[in-house]
Amino acid sequence: MHKYQRWTAVFTPFVLLMLLLAACGQASTPAAPAAEEEAPAAEAPAEEAAAGDAQLEIFSWWTDGGEADGLAAMYEIFNEQHPDTAIVNATIAGGAGANAKTVLKTRLQGGEPPDSWQVHAGKELTAFVDAEQMEPLTTFFAEEGLNDVMPELLLEQITYNGEIWSVPVNIHRSNVMWYNVAVFEENGLEPPTTIEEFFTVAEQLQAAGVTPLAVGGSDKFETPHLFESVLLATLGQEDYVMLFEDPAMWDDPRVAEAATTLAQMLEYANDDRSAIGWADAAQRVLDGDAAMTVMGDWAHGFFLSKGVTPGVEYGYAAAPGTDGVFLWLSDSFGMARNAPNPDAAMAWLRVISSREGQDAFNPRKGSIPARTDADKSLYDEYLTYSIDQFATQQLAPSIVHGAAANEAFMSAYGNALNVFASDLDIEGLMLSLEDARAEL
Ligand code: GAL
Repeated sequence: MHKYQRWTAVFTPFVLLMLLLAACGQASTPAAPAAEEEAPAAEAPAEEAAAGDAQLEIFSWWTDGGEADGLAAMYEIFNEQHPDTAIVNATIAGGAGANAKTVLKTRLQGGEPPDSWQVHAGKELTAFVDAEQMEPLTTFFAEEGLNDVMPELLLEQITYNGEIWSVPVNIHRSNVMWYNVAVFEENGLEPPTTIEEFFTVAEQLQAAGVTPLAVGGSDKFETPHLFESVLLATLGQEDYVMLFEDPAMWDDPRVAEAATTLAQMLEYANDDRSAIGWADAAQRVLDGDAAMTVMGDWAHGFFLSKGVTPGVEYGYAAAPGTDGVFLWLSDSFGMARNAPNPDAAMAWLRVISSREGQDAFNPRKGSIPARTDADKSLYDEYLTYSIDQFATQQLAPSIVHGAAANEAFMSAYGNALNVFASDLDIEGLMLSLEDARAEL
């Protein structure tokens, strides 16, 4: 039997089993509100290059708009360089990877790793390393000269136990407010820069019959995502960073104040949060059904995939109260220990770490390159702004997207905020956060 066919035959029932397990095992899903779950949908293996014997399985959750386009652009380069290796695009839909992470965990525990998978740089990496599921890439970094072209911040985040473990492809910003330009103009309003201004503007938009804030929920990270910006706005950069260095910081009365602010903000958001995802929320802004959404700049990639232009149909600004701080995260790919196709996996890492690979991916993804020597002329107005902001602003790590804290904390934090998204119970949230911080 042809190698690809044989693999597919093994893969299909395996994935079905995984999905079943994932659907049944929701209690352990990060940030999963039990009952209303849908089984994560696996995309059909795609992106098969010219038929050859070799193959490469890449695992990610990039299925929406710009994320899928960016991934495809890296595949294209790989296919040009390795026409005899078929890429299997193993994606599990669901923003921020709640579904994908469940399936990945089961596969790794079952000894069926994909060759390379998406993982955030930072604390999220450490669980895979501790479980001995990844290969160190320290030598690869030295051979490819990557230590000289990646910012110190990222190199620190991918180094653990004295080794480098993954290849960052980008830097994303979490604390961005996206807004509908026409809605603001028609109502004679300016986009809010502070939390106080947010409430003034939201009140007026609501009176004008526009949903002030679009918030998703079905991807199970949207309210947790919004809260990290509110925490940053309330505590400021220095004390926000302290939340992860000194767990006692979670007792600071400003954390409860941030929870109160979040509850008030959600009063100005759509009620059907649990039914829509982050991309649907962004679409509502684009359609003018909602005025604003706070989302990472993969929303920029999403807007680009819809053929609209930053500064024309949609505007952007720091999330209210967070100007001056870049709440960062970074997507990276590692190499599986016992990867089925180690040579192809190394070739993949070479493509995604190259200038060409990063410059093909990031302008579509809505992120800025991890490499400092990228061709800046390829980056649009928003991304040029973001490159400048990253270089000049204070930095703070994202909670939800793996930079600030380990998987156990992320999961407890995510669950707490997802419950809050529907019950708005401040006391309950504080108790859950109290429990979560024990994981730090
Ligand atoms: C983040 C990831 C981004 C984007 C987003 C929504 O966790 O870092 O690249 O994919 O989820 O899916």
